[in-house]
Amino acid sequence: MELFETIRKRHCYRAAFKPGPIPRADLQKIVQAGLDAPSGKNIQTTTFVIVDDPALVSQITPMHTAGKSFQQARAFVACIIDRAPASIYEGMSFQVEDCAAAVENMLLAVTAMGYASVWIDGWLRVDERNTKIGDLLGVPRDKVIRILLPIGIPAENYPSPAKKPFAERAWFNKYGG
Ligand SMILES: Cc1cc2nc3c(=O)[nH]c(=O)nc-3n(C[C@H](O)[C@H](O)[C@H](O)COP(=O)(O)O)c2cc1C
Repeated sequence: MELFETIRKRHCYRAAFKPGPIPRADLQKIVQAGLDAPSGKNIQTTTFVIVDDPALVSQITPMHTAGKSFQQARAFVACIIDRAPASIYEGMSFQVEDCAAAVENMLLAVTAMGYASVWIDGWLRVDERNTKIGDLLGVPRDKVIRILLPIGIPAENYPSPAKKPFAERAWFNKYGG
């Protein structure tokens, strides 16, 4: 798929997935896109656990009571950062940004390869769900799953939300145009 078509088509998918496993080679290709993302000072802080063992997947899927794509996920990619990220530059940590860049790369790969996903982040931080899922995956307690991606082949036509027009959010040379 052409790059700009992939960017346009990428959207969070919260509907049904088709049955059947996802080939490991595809999951590896998706996560490689995450590994190739930029990171602050190139420290490459985000690590990943790819969950494709059906027994493990089925322990995670019932945790979400509303998201159909989460409940029917064929695999998950857990994106992990330090729970208390250290400063790497002038008192700043870039681990959240590193993780977000990796996730966007992976979502584009997911889209280009005919899969779908949804950026699970806010939900994960409620009721210590990130720790509960982290424990299932053997994530050390000094690290945390910051973003989780359920992945599958979309079975429904799920619309992209509208984006604000260019002129409302972007200007040449001066804020507000
Ligand atoms: C930082 C961040 C946190 C998000 N957390 C969640 C979440 O917990 N659950 C969820 O269903 N979607 C979550 N999303 C997805 C957004 O709701 C989605 O990106 C937004 O509605 C725009 O839709 P689109 O991705 O289809 O363009 C999150 C997205 C971002 C960037």
